[in-house]
Amino acid sequence: MKNENILEVTDLRIRYGNFEAVKGVSFALKRGGILGIVGESGSGKSTVARTLIGLNRDFSGKIECLDRMAMVFQDAVGSLNPRMTVRQMLEEVISHHPKAGLEIPYLLSKVGLSEAVLAQYPREMSGGQCQRVSVARALATGANILIADEPVSALDVSVQARVLNLFRDLRRELGLSILLIAHDLAVVKNVCDEVCVMERGLFVDVGDSDTVFTRPQSDYTRRLLACVPRIDRISPV
Ligand SMILES: Nc1ncnc2c1ncn2[C@@H]1O[C@H](COP(=O)(O)OP(=O)(O)OP(=O)(O)O)[C@@H](O)[C@H]1O
Ligand SMILES: [Mg+2]
Repeated sequence: MKNENILEVTDLRIRYGNFEAVKGVSFALKRGGILGIVGESGSGKSTVARTLIGLNRDFSGKIECLDRMAMVFQDAVGSLNPRMTVRQMLEEVISHHPKAGLEIPYLLSKVGLSEAVLAQYPREMSGGQCQRVSVARALATGANILIADEPVSALDVSVQARVLNLFRDLRRELGLSILLIAHDLAVVKNVCDEVCVMERGLFVDVGDSDTVFTRPQSDYTRRLLACVPRIDRISPV
């Protein structure tokens, strides 16, 4: 494993019964880096994410990881327990990860939430606040690698930008390494250092974000790029 990497995946193949959803992908997440995986629905992104955190056993290939991983899910509100307050949810994770030694005020400050949310239930918070709580829960495990599976797709565009900035701040302040899955190229382009473009279980473009977006190797990436709405093409109403 290369010194600069915190996670290395080699020739990962993942099956659901007879169906091979992931057909041999290799990638590396650099320490303190943000790596994006983009691709349309059904291309295998979540299958990769779930396998990395151990939710999928039927795979071959090599997963080498030098630190703890935690997952941030797409559906922020749905991934939180509706019957627990924020305080209860955070205390539960903290009690399961005493070695991480993290406390609620620290976690709240890292994700930009005030103590006022501690008494609230998920239904009493906005989507953006719920996503911040789910990031706080991931941090509470002491993980230094976040696997974020479409963490902003369910949020309004303005809130998306704020949550993405949160990931960037966490990388800078805590040195976190982040695998960011998205189907929106704009999200990946602005936040990730490197990108893998996934089509039907394979990576068809891999490289640093600028290169993949300015000189894509595959027709698939070119087609995805052509679908990205550009502000200058939208006429005023
Ligand atoms: N539990 C499962 N059993 C059988 N097939 C599955 C299962 N989960 C996913 N699949 C199939 O594997 C393929 C990849 O699914 P996956 O959820 O990884 O795609 P994705 O890229 O995350 O899509 P999306 O952008 O919609 O989240 C799809 O064809 C899907 O139908
Ligand atoms: Mg998915």
